[in-house]
Amino acid sequence: MVSNHLSAYKSAFDNWEKQSAVRAKPNRFVEGKYGGEYFFSPELVPICEHAHVQSRDPQVRKNLIIRHLYTHLTFTEHLEHEIVNQMTFKIGKNQLGLELPNSMRMDAWKIYVDEAYHFKFSADLLHKVQALTRIQITENQKPQFLNHLQNVLTDQSQQTKALIRLFFTIVSETLISGTLLKVPHDQRVVPIVREIIKDHAEDEVKHHAYFASLLKEVWPQLSAHQQKEMGLLLPDLIFGFLTPDWGALNHDLLAEGFSEKECAEMIEDTYRKNRVDEEIRRAAKVTINHFYQSDVMKNPYILEAFMQSGLIKA
Ligand SMILES: [Fe+2]
Ligand SMILES: [Fe+2]
Repeated sequence: MVSNHLSAYKSAFDNWEKQSAVRAKPNRFVEGKYGGEYFFSPELVPICEHAHVQSRDPQVRKNLIIRHLYTHLTFTEHLEHEIVNQMTFKIGKNQLGLELPNSMRMDAWKIYVDEAYHFKFSADLLHKVQALTRIQITENQKPQFLNHLQNVLTDQSQQTKALIRLFFTIVSETLISGTLLKVPHDQRVVPIVREIIKDHAEDEVKHHAYFASLLKEVWPQLSAHQQKEMGLLLPDLIFGFLTPDWGALNHDLLAEGFSEKECAEMIEDTYRKNRVDEEIRRAAKVTINHFYQSDVMKNPYILEAFMQSGLIKA
């Protein structure tokens, strides 16, 4: 990798001891925080709008919302452990072959701790909600984004795999998810879910700033070949990360008593391609702005790949 640039890194973690969830926020698992209408914002579970759901007992809709919370929490566990913290470990141990300021390596350990705590409170919340609602968690269900990433990594060299994982982490940490924005302010959602997602969202603001800075550090250090190789993959990494988890949804609908045929119909009716693409474009907007600011889009082949994918308009 080519390198002789000056770093402009400015840490967002100066007050980490006083602000991070793990260091500064109270334990949210106290009695009296479990009452509320929903366990997640219903608008974030669009399958609930489907006529087949509306025609059933109202409890089915509530159960699907609980199951969506499970999908979100399981997704979070896997993301923190298998993606982000694999990368923060490599950054902290200087194993990426990049020149990074020492303060950036030290901040990687803070993110490592944050993500481990996010994993922990997600797991705690999953088990707490299961105990309260008696709706069973499905163990060992792998989120679809991991399968997608696995496919992208297949047959790549070790060095390319590390770079793909790095860019996947940058994508996942700079996207703006509807969940982190909406749920904390939705007064219909049970307080413990709101508070935990709020704690998570507040830590993630700092992670976002870190990974946007990391992108600025990394991009000029890549060779022209590496830039093109990674840049052309970015739209696919974004879609892979943001495409709804059809497998998990199908499983939830079957568990609520819908037939295979109904499940397929409901998913097709609810997730029209235009609707999914529009949501992905919205969530990816800020990440794509970072790609512009870091000169990723200066490469005409990469810009073209983004246009072809529909993530940006000509
Ligand atoms: Fe996190
Ligand atoms: Fe994070």
